Amino acid sequence: ATVQDLAGRHVVISAGGTREPLDPVRFLGNRSSGKQGYALARTAVARGARVTLLAANATLPDPAGVDVVHVGTAVQLREAVLEAAPEADAVVMAAAVADFRPETYATGKIKKKDGQEPEPIVLVRNPDILAELSADRPRPGQIVVGFAAETDDVLANGRKKLARKGCDLLVVNEVGERKTFGSEENEAVLLGADGSETPVPYGPKEVVSDTIWDEVVRLLPIGDAR
Ligand code: PMT
Repeated sequence: ATVQDLAGRHVVISAGGTREPLDPVRFLGNRSSGKQGYALARTAVARGARVTLLAANATLPDPAGVDVVHVGTAVQLREAVLEAAPEADAVVMAAAVADFRPETYATGKIKKKDGQEPEPIVLVRNPDILAELSADRPRPGQIVVGFAAETDDVLANGRKKLARKGCDLLVVNEVGERKTFGSEENEAVLLGADGSETPVPYGPKEVVSDTIWDEVVRLLPIGDAR
């Protein structure tokens, strides 16, 4: 049987990718499937946690024993995180959140006009949920975990992102054909604000998830389980 080291703990996990609508049929999005966040939810349940999963456009079946809240945009995900976080011992942001959204939303489908150049899409900044939560923790001692999907200088960029976001742990995964976005497998390095560095070799997303929970258990203040 799995060690119940998250018994009495409540964890909030974001999964999937936000979509930022342009009109009723189009959006700006990304390739996140939700698999990494859902694997985090399943492994947390197996270790005894109460789990709230904030799912952005994931089409996977709701995991058993998990409270699932479905959202679309980054702004909606922020609302859901801020609502769930005050109860949480740990928040893990595995979702790929759009940094920008279109400035305007066309209520009717955007049409192409004969002989005219396309209109440029103007973008505005989305709120940075992870940075906001890290800076302003709704519960003392709460552990905040971020992810970083990088294509180059993976570790150096990861360290910079960890400092910039202000979270306790950053899970750095390199974007590749058989890992990260969309696949069943992943490979990662967990960077701790305390200087720790925990590599996870290529394997199922459950293994990356369990290593994250090991680190969360190590970092959680002892003895205040609810
Ligand atoms: O869903 P899968 O197909 O299984 O793929 C998993 C994954 C690749 C999506 C996941 O492992 C992952 O890496 N998620 C983060 C993706 C990413 O590109 O993150 P980022 O570098 O843009 O953002 C860094 C961190 O800040 C993330 O924790 C993100 O949730 C958070 N963020 C980002 C922007 C923003 N406006 N608000 C945020 O909170």
